[in-house]
Amino acid sequence: MDLKSLLNVTAVDFTEALKTQPALGQLLFGIGAVVVLKFVLSACQAFYRFFLRPGKKLRKFGEWAVVTGATDGIGKAYAFELARQGLSLLLISRTETKLRDTAAEIKSKYPNVEVHILSIDFGNFNEDAQAKVKQATKGLDVGVLINNVGQSYDFPMYFDELSDEHVHALVNLNVTSTLYMTRLLLPSMVAKRRGAVVNLASAASRNPSPLLSLYSGAKSFVELFSQSLDAEYKGRGIRVQVQTPLFVATKLAKIRKASLTVPSPAGYAKAAVRFIGYEDSVSPYWSHAFQLYLMSCMPKSLLSIIVLNMHAGLRKRGLKKKVQKSA
Ligand SMILES: NC(=O)c1ccc[n+]([C@@H]2O[C@H](COP(=O)([O-])OP(=O)(O)OC[C@H]3O[C@@H](n4cnc5c(N)ncnc54)[C@H](OP(=O)(O)O)[C@@H]3O)[C@@H](O)[C@H]2O)c1
Repeated sequence: MDLKSLLNVTAVDFTEALKTQPALGQLLFGIGAVVVLKFVLSACQAFYRFFLRPGKKLRKFGEWAVVTGATDGIGKAYAFELARQGLSLLLISRTETKLRDTAAEIKSKYPNVEVHILSIDFGNFNEDAQAKVKQATKGLDVGVLINNVGQSYDFPMYFDELSDEHVHALVNLNVTSTLYMTRLLLPSMVAKRRGAVVNLASAASRNPSPLLSLYSGAKSFVELFSQSLDAEYKGRGIRVQVQTPLFVATKLAKIRKASLTVPSPAGYAKAAVRFIGYEDSVSPYWSHAFQLYLMSCMPKSLLSIIVLNMHAGLRKRGLKKKVQKSA
């Protein structure tokens, strides 16, 4: 029997069964209605959260916000958005001149907020560097911490191709910075029983990312660390949230032009700040969240193959550029 006739027989049998057993029809209708209702409710809930729900009044957490990696991309846009909410800022990044320029830009736009700067290399966040953060935050009412600094690969690579230096940098910038900045600032939040911590992960923390394995693993650490911490401290007035953006038009992503699926840093930060203090894990830009939803409907094995192929293409281009550069 070919497939067409098999389907015909099955359809006929099924119609007969529905005629003779009306309870079966009612059961199937019930299941269908529940599925549709659940989908409609989730869609309405998502619409409310992404477009209608007001953001929290962030000054309730404290007067100051600390932002790491604050001189470029998402971190810089976050700093502007927090200043717009009236929060004073401690900007932490590597390059002193860029820190001074960013602080001056923020001050000229929002003269009422105070802006402090601190130059730290998170590639080596040792005791001395941590002591500097302690000193810089001493006496400040820090209510919001944005652990934004992070690093990915120059282009997708096999794990054995990474240099030891690169492995250390990826772990230090994505994991160690988040861990120790949180350890440094959490105690004062606990004492005041208020605070909000936001940790930047990535879509690579939700799904396997072949050829970016270390970045994916480091960010998935951030994902579960944040969710666990939120459950641990929620009852003590502190909310911890992990944010998982997809591509944002920044240097790290090597994308200059924003589009429907790739927001500008300012567009991302505007959406992101409205989510602070709510869910423990979120992808705050609507088109990112929609893409993640579609990915979650796919079998993981298929998704891995798609991502591997995509990254293999990017790797080819990256290797070509590297050869051209060295030539
Ligand atoms: N952009 C995306 O598509 C995307 C997607 C998913 C997740 N993310 C995550 O979002 C976060 C921000 O990414 P981004 O795209 O905005 O990055 P970015 O544009 O490359 O900006 C990086 C910032 O971090 C600072 N920084 C870099 N290395 C540092 C170091 N060793 N010590 C101290 N500061 C350092 C840079 O300052 P200097 O210039 O002074 O070095 C700059 O202010 C990262 O955690 C990233 O993993 C980004």
